[in-house]
Order: sequence, then structure tokens, then C-alpha cells
Amino acid sequence: MSMDALAELESSGLVELSTFTDEAALRAWNTKYFGDKGLMKAALAGIGKVPKEQRAAYGQEANRVKVALESAYATALDAAKEKALLASLNEAPLDATLPGRTRPRGRLHPATQILRDIYRIFGDLGFQIYRSREVESDDLNFEQLNMPPHHPARDMWDTFFTTTPGTILRTHTSPGQIHVMRERCPEPIRVILPGMCYRNEAISTRSEIQFLQVEGLVIGEGVTMADLKGTITAFARRMFGPDRQVRIRSSYFPFTEPSIEVDIDWPKDDPNRDRLTKGTGWLEILGAGMVHPTVLRNGGYDPDKVTGFAFGMGPQRMLMLKHAIDDIRLFWQNDRRFLEQF
Ligand code: PHE
Repeated sequence: MSMDALAELESSGLVELSTFTDEAALRAWNTKYFGDKGLMKAALAGIGKVPKEQRAAYGQEANRVKVALESAYATALDAAKEKALLASLNEAPLDATLPGRTRPRGRLHPATQILRDIYRIFGDLGFQIYRSREVESDDLNFEQLNMPPHHPARDMWDTFFTTTPGTILRTHTSPGQIHVMRERCPEPIRVILPGMCYRNEAISTRSEIQFLQVEGLVIGEGVTMADLKGTITAFARRMFGPDRQVRIRSSYFPFTEPSIEVDIDWPKDDPNRDRLTKGTGWLEILGAGMVHPTVLRNGGYDPDKVTGFAFGMGPQRMLMLKHAIDDIRLFWQNDRRFLEQF
């Protein structure tokens, strides 16, 4: 190799390069000059045959040629790519005026929202959240709650049975009371138990076969009805407004004694008042009572030493009240026109 050969290599390389405009041809050129067996490689290796005195000059020149060809190649390749891109845009023209695709914003389901409100309120009152299973034993759903087989009160809850004898879908969150008691006994308890319940009922605007409940359970020395009343009142005022009146009516549940139902007054200035309260001005929000001694005993506690209260509320019912929703079936239909209002 001589200096002349290097000059020749540079000029022929540049000339060839200038004749190609597509990427594939350019890449072939690159292989020819810079591949493992390429011309440039050979020229660099050829330094060994150059007379000693000329080697330094030859090396410098070879490097200059190499850099010159490389940068010419890079420039040509960019130009070819740009040209190909423009061509493809002309084939499928870009409409810069086309509106962008907006991503719909996600939001929480209204049931999740009210559950979180409930958790926050009871959390502030010192309650913990306890989770309990939805597939439950007949024993805990009924018997341990003071309802032996054939007890007429079982009729209050139309039950879904499974193919496994003695195993049902829980009809209320109250069996959770037994789970917590057996786990915590003899410690005092202050928990809420949220979750899905199932009842084999005809679906209507007011009842669904699947619905949420939030159970509450407080057990300790000297817990009284006054504590139940205070807790419910504090809850109702945080949930529905500070001026709410709470009304207590006597009721019956096999697992509480005495049992009550709790109503709250509905604002007099709400035009829906009559319809929502069936003309009475009062709305039922939950069932509750003092935990029955038999239930305390079933949970491992000594009813002579401790007392407790329990309540069960329907969050969906409260949501319906809060937002004047008149059909409970809307909750699980996943109709976005409904859900997007929250
Ligand atoms: N479990 C009852 C129901 O589903 C509600 C309730 C809970 C009543 C706790 C009293 C105490 O109707």
C-alpha cells in the first residue's frame, strides 16, 4: 500500500457513496469498505509493508481517510432515512389537525367511596377493620348466633346453599363477630367488619341478591347501650351532617338482646324527604343491639364479666339516601353513565 493507493481509496469510496440513495445500498457499501474483509481494513493492515520511514505518515493518512469515509457514510445514511420517512408520510399523510385521543379518567366505584368514608369515621372512633369470609358455615352464620336449625328467625335471611352440606354464602356479616371473638378472646374488641353478603331474594329496586354490609362489634367491661347510642349518633352526624337526630326503635334479632333499629331524621328542606321516608321524616339506617349472652359465650367470653354491642349497616342503602338513588340494581350493573356521576 502506498499513499497514492490511500488517496485512490478515498476518492473512489466517496464517489461510490454519492451514487447511492437507498439504505440497503449504503449498508452494502459500508460492508465493502468497513467490513471484516473490507478495503479500509486491508489498507490499515497494509502498514506493515510500508517502509519504516514512511510508516508514521502513512498511518496518519490512513486514519484521516478512514474518518472521512465514516462521516460521509453517516451523513448519507441519515439523508437516506429521512428520505424514506418523508416518502412513507406522503403515502399515509399525517393529519396534524386530528384531535388527540383522550384517556378516560379512572375513578372509584361509589360503593368503594362510601366504604372508605365509613372506614375513616370508625377509624377516628378507634375501630379496627377485620375481614371475614364470604363462604361461611351454617354453624357460624346461624347456630353460633343463637339460631339453631329450624329456628323461625332463619326465615329473616333467605339463604344460598352450596353443594357442600353445611356451607353457605353468608347472609349477613354477623358470623364475623364469632371469628373475631374467638381470635381475640379475652381481649376487648372494637372492630368493624365490611364485606359482601348474599340473599336468595327476588331482585327488585330495593333488594339485590348481593350487597354490602358493615358490621360493628365492641366488647369490653362495662359496655352499655349508652355507648352504642353514642357511637351511632357520632357516626350518623359525621356521615349525614352535624344536625342529625337519631331515633331508636326496639326490634328483634336472635343474636342481640335488647335489639334496636336506628333511624335518622331527614332534612326538612329536602324535596325528596317524603318519598325517601315514606312520609315519616325518619330513615332506617341499621340494626343493632347488645350482644346476646349466648353469643358472647359462643365467642369464648364470660357474659358475667363483659358486655358488648353490635350493629349492622348497609352502605349501599346509605349511598342511595345520600344521592337519592332510587334503584339498588344500578350498583353492580357497571353502567358508566351511572358510575361517572360519582
Ligand atoms: N345481621 C343483621 C342483619 O343482617 C343486622 C344486625 C347486626 C343486627 C348486628 C344486630 C346486630 O339484618
